[in-house]
Amino acid sequence: MPGPQPFNYDKLFAKNAQVNTRAPSRHAKYDFAVAYPDPDNLPLEGLADSLRTALEREGRDLAYYPEVTGLPSLRQWVADKLARDRNMKLTADDVILTAGSGEAIAMVIQALTDPGDVCLTEEYVYLGTMRQMKRFGSEVVGVKCDGEGFVGSELRAALKRLTNQGKKIKYVYTIPSFQNPLGWSMSLARRKELLSITREYSVPVFEDDCYWDLRFEGEDITSIHSLDTTGQVIYCGSFSKILAPGMRLGYLVAPKPVLERALSFKAGGGVNQFAALAIDEYVRHHLKEHVDDQNQALRAKRDAMLAALGENFGGIATWSVPKGGLYIWVTFPEGTDMAALQETAFNEGVGYYHGAQFSPEGKGKNCVRLCFGHPDAKTNYDGVTELARIMERHGVLPA
Ligand SMILES: Cc1ncc(COP(=O)(O)O)c(C=O)c1O
Repeated sequence: MPGPQPFNYDKLFAKNAQVNTRAPSRHAKYDFAVAYPDPDNLPLEGLADSLRTALEREGRDLAYYPEVTGLPSLRQWVADKLARDRNMKLTADDVILTAGSGEAIAMVIQALTDPGDVCLTEEYVYLGTMRQMKRFGSEVVGVKCDGEGFVGSELRAALKRLTNQGKKIKYVYTIPSFQNPLGWSMSLARRKELLSITREYSVPVFEDDCYWDLRFEGEDITSIHSLDTTGQVIYCGSFSKILAPGMRLGYLVAPKPVLERALSFKAGGGVNQFAALAIDEYVRHHLKEHVDDQNQALRAKRDAMLAALGENFGGIATWSVPKGGLYIWVTFPEGTDMAALQETAFNEGVGYYHGAQFSPEGKGKNCVRLCFGHPDAKTNYDGVTELARIMERHGVLPA
């Protein structure tokens, strides 16, 4: 006897419900595809000790649902950190905690987007953000950049063209520190220019600053948020890049009307209080030391990757030389199809993401993003050497 038919949900799904397209994570031998931190650098003992200390002090509060805006003492810590490090004038009320900055980004996108609205980004942009923008119906427009950020004339031209077309431009999203995937940091002059151009069009700037702490070289550059006194800048950051993505904790800073709308899209109460307590205790005592150690290791890893790029691709490709963060962007000659090679390269040991994955317009198949933070320095060196062998074996470089 055949059993009952499986229940059919097809006619029940919401019109905008989409099937998840994110594949489970997989790892090549040389894993340059995703910017994981190095598991050997995670401060596991420190976090465990911090959690114990915090639970002894405040564990009984776990009996209650957390505040929807997140643990007040950690929000205060974030406000103080941003005042100290990023010159931002804030109180704890300007900050909410989120499940990673990914959630902060999704909440802002939902609060600001009606289907058909336009948002502008750097010409190559963090995949997760682009996915959310499109998920909620935005038209995403990439604006040409050079090694200092948006090219001002291109930004102005895009704003003018889209405005003339009657489009609603909702914000310019930017990753000004060690941009993902391009690796550069936006210069001070470009930050000021970005604010002044967007102001002409009454468009806010959404500053995603999650890599700022990972500087191992060069001079610090103040946040875009600090250059504005009008509330034109929305800002987010994360503990993923300075502690661990598995903690799932980030934060959003925005003017009150934006925070209130964004919060209405936060599901499931506040953030995980377990993670918030551990981080709150840890960051007060150990964060600086931990980030300094991490950055020293990152510099060596970047250098190893750059050395291998020079030896294998000198005179053939060009690449960014980031002063921090986790990414090197490599541009091969026009016609090199790194998109077609990606799966083969993965199967033969080298994981990377090709450029078109980061482009709203789908350009950049001749580029790759290499993440240098997860493997050790020798593995970075060997992996780039292996990538050169794979490219040679499959004859992908144009003759
Ligand atoms: C630029 C940028 N923003 C946000 C995120 C999201 O990170 P999380 O949600 O772990 O804070 C990432 C992750 O790679 C990123 O690169």
